[in-house]
Amino acid sequence: MILSSRVYEVAQETPLQYATTLSTKLKNSIYLKREDLQPVFSFKIRGAYNKISHLTEKQREKGIVCCSAGNHAQGVALASTKLKVKAKIVMPISTPSIKVDAVRHHGGDFSEIILYGDNFDEAQAEARRLESEEGYTMIAPFDDPLVIAGQGTCGLEILKQSMGKDIDAIFICCGGGGLLAGIAAIIKRIRPEIKVIGVEAADAPGMTQSLLAGRVVSLPTVGLFADGAAVKTIGRETFRLCSQFVDDMIIVSTDEICAAIKDGFNDTRIVLEPAGALAIAGVKRYISKNGIVGKSFVATASGANMDFDRMRFVADRADNRETLISVKIPEVPGSFRQLYEQIFPRNVTEFSYRYQESSFAHIFLSFHAKNAEDASKVLDKLREKEYEVIELSDNEMAKVHARHLAGGRSPNVKNEVLYRFEFPEKPGALNLFLQKISSSWNVSLFHYRNHGADVGRVLVGLQIPPEEQQKFDHFLQVLGYTYFDETDNPVYTRFLL
Ligand SMILES: Cc1ncc(COP(=O)(O)O)c(C=O)c1O
Repeated sequence: MILSSRVYEVAQETPLQYATTLSTKLKNSIYLKREDLQPVFSFKIRGAYNKISHLTEKQREKGIVCCSAGNHAQGVALASTKLKVKAKIVMPISTPSIKVDAVRHHGGDFSEIILYGDNFDEAQAEARRLESEEGYTMIAPFDDPLVIAGQGTCGLEILKQSMGKDIDAIFICCGGGGLLAGIAAIIKRIRPEIKVIGVEAADAPGMTQSLLAGRVVSLPTVGLFADGAAVKTIGRETFRLCSQFVDDMIIVSTDEICAAIKDGFNDTRIVLEPAGALAIAGVKRYISKNGIVGKSFVATASGANMDFDRMRFVADRADNRETLISVKIPEVPGSFRQLYEQIFPRNVTEFSYRYQESSFAHIFLSFHAKNAEDASKVLDKLREKEYEVIELSDNEMAKVHARHLAGGRSPNVKNEVLYRFEFPEKPGALNLFLQKISSSWNVSLFHYRNHGADVGRVLVGLQIPPEEQQKFDHFLQVLGYTYFDETDNPVYTRFLL
């Protein structure tokens, strides 16, 4: 089926590019499959075009429907224009205008954009209604043999382009599993000795969990950062193929994805979107976990439809040389200098302090170490000099909120609890959050910063008298947002209380 796919009437045969800088850094040869160079800036055009080009004359005449706020919508829009098939593309009302405009651009007169529903599920229900009640053919984003076969053409190109090279493994990003299943199927048929490894975001590991369970598992929630791959339920057909052909799965964190976006940029000068950089993050983790040197690997660079607003968040997180710490120093002249002497000549990237009427002070400080060993060396040196140090590089509350909250101490506030919330970011989301949170209790601390990510992150201090604790617990359940109790976080007690 892959061999008979008709994708090249619109898709490009993209290059398999040797990533010079990344290869040197990882001491292995890394090749990037540049799907960001497709006319819609992602591989999605392959599957959409293949599916639509195989429709019957009657189906084409009636038209097609799909639901997507992302790359699938752009693939369907461009394919429908090329094949002159009318398409209804349903997107949630809150879809950012940049994405709506991209679909409009590719779809021209052939695509009708229908903005419907407050979220993806409501938009999808409308697309299904158009399919069942009005007879349009649904173009699924991943769980369709023709879509999977279209994505598989990418695997065929990798085989052709890597001929004569001793490729050890291919790393492929996974959302619903269409690209992974398509590439795995062709690789295992032609060169079964090459390992095929799927890569998922740690907060959306649908394929990993399903393969472990031996059946399709639905995730109750998924993180939205790698939005292209944020899928609650993977496909049945993609699961069947991946069970048969995929050797292993790897999951990577948000910080690893951000670092991979930076690696992709260093070699290509292209900013990959988070889902587009998943496979690079996967190959890096695989090499470091297994201590591999001198092998050859391919990673799919699957898309570059990056929201410009997100780059601030990505740039903040991509810097894995940055070590964030809190240090307690005596409140006497010369303390700052003495502290810095322990860190010099390393670059200090952040330094925050506020006087607190006592004999000591807590400093927020970050510095650039050469590597993890170098960072530990600094921490050991500080502890030898009897500084009290807390490592905060993995402390989400400190990284997202507290470092931006200068001088927020308030010792007189009574019965304060501190919670960190995450909620889907969309226009009006913060307002809605405020309405919900501030109706019953006094808000004593609040921090929100728009990170240009799909998830809003808020830190809230609330005054909850002990007799209201139960009511508050109930409120948290009803609110329905992801939350973390940060009341015992040492950063809170040191800097904010
Ligand atoms: C850039 C990018 N990478 C990866 C994926 C995941 O693809 P699949 O759902 O076929 O696993 C998508 C899906 O839209 C995507 O847009």
